[in-house]
Amino acid sequence: MKFTRFLVSFFIGISALIVGTGFLPLSSSAQDTPYTIVDGKVDKGTYNGYRRFHGICHTCHGPDALGSTIGPSLVESLKTLTYDEFKKTVLEGRVGTTPQGQPNVMLGFSTNPDIVKYLDDIYAYVKARSDGALGPGRPQKKR
Ligand code: HEC
Repeated sequence: MKFTRFLVSFFIGISALIVGTGFLPLSSSAQDTPYTIVDGKVDKGTYNGYRRFHGICHTCHGPDALGSTIGPSLVESLKTLTYDEFKKTVLEGRVGTTPQGQPNVMLGFSTNPDIVKYLDDIYAYVKARSDGALGPGRPQKKR
């Protein structure tokens, strides 16, 4: 009886240790590397993200996410922006200030199903660009 109790607490302790130290992928975020690129070819999600990004975001954030006179370079932004901050900004939008002191507006996309549904794909694409894992232009898709 006592031994069983010892075993139980032993295993609880070990599990806590493993999870706590991040030994298992449980505690590390899946968003760290949300894309896969093999032999220069991207996964389906990242490819879709490329297409979605260039369907709408590029009008302000520039082709290849390099920025324009309207919106900042997301290649730069995602070097520090977290996934949660990215998601919040895209869904809720944001009003900032231009260097000239004018309001700089990004409208939220929470009512656009094409963006809400594919937000993670867009993130994967922009993150790959930001990490330097993916160059400019249309990527090749892994089949
Ligand atoms: C009409 C122009 C416009 C469009 C379209 C647009 N954005 Fe933006 N976005 C902006 C502006 C302007 C800012 C900067 C706001 C500020 O100064 O705080 C911004 C900021 C951001 C930021 C925060 C950057 C940072 O450095 O904190 C993210 C992330 C972002 N946009 C993602 C997207 C994505 C993804 C899309 C496509 C779904 C998109 N944006 C479409 C204008 C736009």
